[in-house]
Order: sequence, then structure tokens, then C-alpha cells
Amino acid sequence: MRARVDRIYCNMTDLTNKRILLGISGGIAAYKSPDIVRRLRERGFEVRVAMTRAACEFVTPLTFQAVSGKSVHTHLLDASAEAAMGHIELARWADTVLIAPATADYLAKLAHGIADDLLSTLCLATTSPIVVAPAMNRQMWDAEATRENVAVLKARGVTFLGPGDGSQACGEVGPGRMLEPADISALIAARYNCDKLRGLKVMVTAGATREALDPVRFISNQSSGKMGYAVANAAAEAGARVILVSGPTSLEAPLGVDRVCVNSAQEMFAAVMQRVGESQIFIGAAAVSDYAPKEYAEQKLKKSKDRMTIELVKTRDILAEVAAMDHAPFTVGFAAETDDVETYARDKLRKKSLDMIAANLVGVPGSGFGSDENALSVYWSGGAEELELAPKLHLARRLIGIVADRYREKHSAQNS
Ligand code: PMT
Repeated sequence: MRARVDRIYCNMTDLTNKRILLGISGGIAAYKSPDIVRRLRERGFEVRVAMTRAACEFVTPLTFQAVSGKSVHTHLLDASAEAAMGHIELARWADTVLIAPATADYLAKLAHGIADDLLSTLCLATTSPIVVAPAMNRQMWDAEATRENVAVLKARGVTFLGPGDGSQACGEVGPGRMLEPADISALIAARYNCDKLRGLKVMVTAGATREALDPVRFISNQSSGKMGYAVANAAAEAGARVILVSGPTSLEAPLGVDRVCVNSAQEMFAAVMQRVGESQIFIGAAAVSDYAPKEYAEQKLKKSKDRMTIELVKTRDILAEVAAMDHAPFTVGFAAETDDVETYARDKLRKKSLDMIAANLVGVPGSGFGSDENALSVYWSGGAEELELAPKLHLARRLIGIVADRYREKHSAQNS
């Protein structure tokens, strides 16, 4: 399933002839780097590998030569390698320089502009973006010196992929693990969609809301937030500045996304309205309660009567109110339907005056609420696109691609 979906996603952007120079510095995570080469090549990238002396202690250059299909660059002053492709030429050849793993020592070297081996010299000589996937012991990641080096590199525009959190080769647990090769290759591929929303602000709502009855009880629904978080993540990958207004969830905020946490539909409404004015695109993926209890009991409701009636009142429709604003952003709704998806979704598209709606069938196992995968039918006035079952992040990337295209189309029509 995963391979099929990866292929669908890769078709969005032609990665053929895109050139990655993969730098390997000397850490135990280097044993995973041949898999990064393999996965990047599967996506159509051309990959060349440059290794530090320490990296060669962990994995042999021969392994990388076998998986990349190219000779591996290890020495700055190697006359035969220089004759084949000199270090300046190699620095110019790369569209992206990816260092994975990037050790604490290597980050320090990059931050201070030290050029005492081939890879560090390439990093100084290249004008292409540099992306690093750090890998080190959690204390080293947390050390003040490393934090300062990371800040310097980020300020210079170096992109950090991870590190991840979890068990480490040294036996400790915490942040500092190199991201998995599949994630690194997906994130590198996603960078090539980067310009799609560059310079735009996108607001996304996600998750369920909780409508309190008393201090301990609430009415809610089964939304986990996964779909909305994936949309926020994909929008950030596409270069947008993203504000995610989220109902309660255990999910971590995606990298580079500003999260505003809320509980109730009223809080979500207020958080959206306070900030949406600056956004060019609004995407409502949250499952906002349509009704909330009319009364809130300050004390826990006691079990006494056999029957109990709770009066509910309609909440404000955030999506419809955003779409109705003067200078409304490009407004994308979601529709959760159990039947007749197209009719109900198109009805919401029209009644709420939306630019686009992404409808999903809910109440079936394996997609919709709570699951890791989903399928979407995307409708807009005069068009539609089916996005078949896929992991939510893959689906979100495709959705963001459609949103970006339609947004540009609407914008250029308005300006002509
Ligand atoms: O979070 P997950 O577990 O990953 O599940 C994803 C999802 C199924 C929740 C998601 O894909 C989805 O369908 N979200 C919208 C759910 C929903 O509330 O659908 P609706 O058809 O009832 O609402 C239509 C639209 O109006 C939605 O964009 C909703 O955000 C918006 N709305 C609804 C009510 C309200 N008071 N304010 C709103 O903005």
C-alpha cells in the first residue's frame, strides 16, 4: 500500500534529474544512510555521496557506491576524484546538499565555516540549500553549544529534518535520533513542492471540539485531529506560514506550524476570527460541534432522576462565517458524510459559499475519523478530483497541491 501511495505522490512533481548530494558524517546512524540513497533514487532523484573519514569507519564507501551507482567522494585532495568531478563542480552539481547523519561535531563545523575536509568544503562552496538530519546523544543535542550552533545554522537558512525522539544507540531515550530514511526521503521530495504556497499564510482547523456540560463532562466526537494536522504539515512543507487552530488532541504540532489550542466550538470560533484576517487560505478540517449545551452546570451534575434532558443550542458556523467575511480568504471546507457524499458535499459548497470542499465518507472502518488513512473527493465549482485511500499526510500533500492551483487560478482571474 505504502509503495503505491508513494508513487502517486511522486507523480505530482517530476523529481527526475533532481540532484541530491548526500553527505555522511561519522555517527552510528550512518548505517541507515544507504537506505536514504535507495529511497531517494526510487523517487527519481540522482544521488551522489560524499563521506567524511569518520563516516567511512561506520559504513564503507563501497556500500554507497553500490546503492548510488556512482563513485563515492571521500577526499578533498584526491587527484583522480578531482579529475572526475572536482569539489567545486560537485558543489555546483547539487540541487540540495543533504547531510544525514549530521553529528554534533559536523553541525559545529558548519556553523563556524570550517572547511577541513571534502564535505565541509562542499558546504561552503555550494549556493544550493543545505538540509541536515541531526543524529546524536540526547545530552549532546541539548548542550548549549549545540543549541547555539543550531540557531546559527537555522538563521542562515539551513533546514533541519528532526531529530526524532526515542531510544538511542547509547541506550538512552530522548531527542537526537536521526529520522527514518523513509521520512527523510519524503521530506526531501516534499521540498520540491515548496514554492506552491511560498509567501502565503494558511489557517487550518483540526480535531474535535468539546462542549462542556459540567466541570467533568462534555459532548464531543471521534475526530483525532490527524487529518487536519496532516493538512497543516503539508501546507508548511509547501512553504506557507501556517496557523493551526486545534481542538484537544495528543498529536504534536507539525514542525514550523504555529498552534493555537482550544477546547470548545466557541473558543475555536474566537481563535479563528482573531487571526484569520491575515490568511490568504483557510482550511476547516476540524469536526466542530454543531450544537453545545445551553446551560453549563458549575458543579458536577448529580445522578438523581431516571431521565435527563439536555437542551442544545446551535454553535456558530466558523467555516461559513469565514467564507462570508469581506475580503474572505480562499476558503476550503471538509464534509464528513455517511451517504450520498457528492450531493451533500456540493450542497455545503454552495450554501456556505466555499471555494472548495474535501468530502470524506465517515462511519466506515479504515478511513475518516481516527484512522491513519483516508480518501477524499474534492469538489469546486466546475470541477472535482478523487484522491484515493492513502496515509493522511500523502493525501494532505495532494490536497494542498489542488488548493494551491485553484487559489492561483482564482487570484489570476481576479487580477485580469
Ligand atoms: O481528525 P481525524 O480523526 O483525522 O478525522 C478527520 C475528519 C473525518 C474529522 C475530517 O476529515 C473531516 O471530515 N472534518 C470535517 C468534519 C465535519 O465537521 O464535517 P461537517 O460536514 O459536519 O462540517 C462541514 C464543515 O463545516 C467542516 O469544514 C467543519 O469544520 C465546518 N464547521 C462545522 C460546524 C461549525 N460549527 N463550524 C464549522 O466550521
